[in-house]
Amino acid sequence: MSQALPPEIDPHLNLVAAHRELLKHLHNLIRAGRLLVLGRGDLGLTLQISRALRFLALDVPLHARDEEESLLPRLRAKLKDPQSHFSYLLEHIEKDHAELAGLHVQFDAVARKLVARIPFEGLAARKDLEPELKVFRGQAGELFNIYASHILVEERDVFPALAVVFTHSEREQIGREMTQRRGLPVNAAV
Ligand SMILES: [Fe+2]
Ligand SMILES: [Fe+2]
Repeated sequence: MSQALPPEIDPHLNLVAAHRELLKHLHNLIRAGRLLVLGRGDLGLTLQISRALRFLALDVPLHARDEEESLLPRLRAKLKDPQSHFSYLLEHIEKDHAELAGLHVQFDAVARKLVARIPFEGLAARKDLEPELKVFRGQAGELFNIYASHILVEERDVFPALAVVFTHSEREQIGREMTQRRGLPVNAAV
């Protein structure tokens, strides 16, 4: 059993926490789409959508960098067989990130147009929200589906390797890089 790191710099804990936060925002976006279809969208919903867009624009790219810059290169360096199934998984993760980054840009644009159509007072009528609402719902569903399987693979097949293949000091270094990437102090005693 590997020695525990303080939670604030434990890479496994923080990577999984980012996934939970992302899935929460994606659920909120899908729910927002449903409420807007039902004509029950109000200003409160625009705040929820805006928070999710902010997370997708700022936090998700940092999370992708945690994986692409701090985790995957170190895992690759430990691989004995570059043709292995595990090596293929790492490549697949990077391809997903590139595809998702493109989808984020499209989704952000349509979601901003949709939010701009929601009135400051009262409820938004569905007819006033099209065609953006249809595209928004389709893309939110697509993002959720891709992320759900992406996260499943990372948490089931990749992250458990952290405790197995890395030493305590390697995991600490990864955790410190993740903290520094966010401009947070890294003075936790370990
Ligand atoms: Fe990822
Ligand atoms: Fe991830």
